[in-house]
Amino acid sequence: MTAPLITFEGKSVVVTGGARGIGRAIAKRFLACGARVIIADHDESGAETAIQLADMGNEVHFIRCDVSKLSEVQSLVAESIHRFGGSIDVLVNNAGIFPRADLLNTDEAFWDNVLGINLKGAYMLCQAVVPGMIERNSGVIINIGSNHATAGEPATMAYAVSKGGIVTLTRNLAKAFVKHGIRVNCVQPGWVASEGEVARWKANGMDEEQMTALAARLQTGEDIADAVLFMASGMSKQINGQVLIVDGGITLK
Ligand SMILES: NC(=O)c1ccc[n+]([C@@H]2O[C@H](COP(=O)([O-])OP(=O)(O)OC[C@H]3O[C@@H](n4cnc5c(N)ncnc54)[C@H](O)[C@@H]3O)[C@@H](O)[C@H]2O)c1
Repeated sequence: MTAPLITFEGKSVVVTGGARGIGRAIAKRFLACGARVIIADHDESGAETAIQLADMGNEVHFIRCDVSKLSEVQSLVAESIHRFGGSIDVLVNNAGIFPRADLLNTDEAFWDNVLGINLKGAYMLCQAVVPGMIERNSGVIINIGSNHATAGEPATMAYAVSKGGIVTLTRNLAKAFVKHGIRVNCVQPGWVASEGEVARWKANGMDEEQMTALAARLQTGEDIADAVLFMASGMSKQINGQVLIVDGGITLK
């Protein structure tokens, strides 16, 4: 029998925002492919997620972490390395929030919160894991972006800027660390009916059926997870500093 094309046997993966939604789907896919996984989330429900996913038979832990806080990010990385016995092979920067406000309704606290979680969090996580990856001359970082980075949607101003920053961070780090065997890529979902997204639209009076009608093609967390696993695997070893759009082609012009 030939070996499977995508396997993460013996690999250690940290997924931020893994308690639910897209992050949970990513964690589950890595576990299914043999990885050991840390679910990092500021929401304690990540503990329950880890218990559920442990049924799959591979090692999975929950570590509470607010990715916008440097000390918590540093503790997360130190504890992950300790639990994995030495290394983080794959980091998925997925934790994110997407509250809506245009420029005139965005105050300083709103801006700081969105940029602090979505962009500063990713930068701090990268800074904390890269030294270990340099030591081993290998590592993969996947940043979860959004088509809002380029869509020019006025109602998500701070969010869009944070995701534009994610693309820039991705390309910058990809170039900086390619000589150390580290790849950094961005997976950019279109519209995913995750828990967070469904709840937000419900609050605006729209159910999942109406979302589907509006979007024409909604993605699932699993669709995004498949792309993340490809970008983290050896199958994409020559792909670096790129944005992989996973939106069913809906943004094609
Ligand atoms: N749902 C979509 O349509 C969509 C589209 C494009 C991009 N994305 C991106 O995908 C990622 C996941 O989104 P989702 O739809 O699964 O959202 P979600 O709200 O369902 O899940 C987000 C997770 O991130 C965690 N989180 C939030 N703030 C955190 C913090 N400060 N520290 C640690 N964890 C934190 C939450 O607790 C939650 O578990 C986000 O980066 C989002 O911007 C989502």
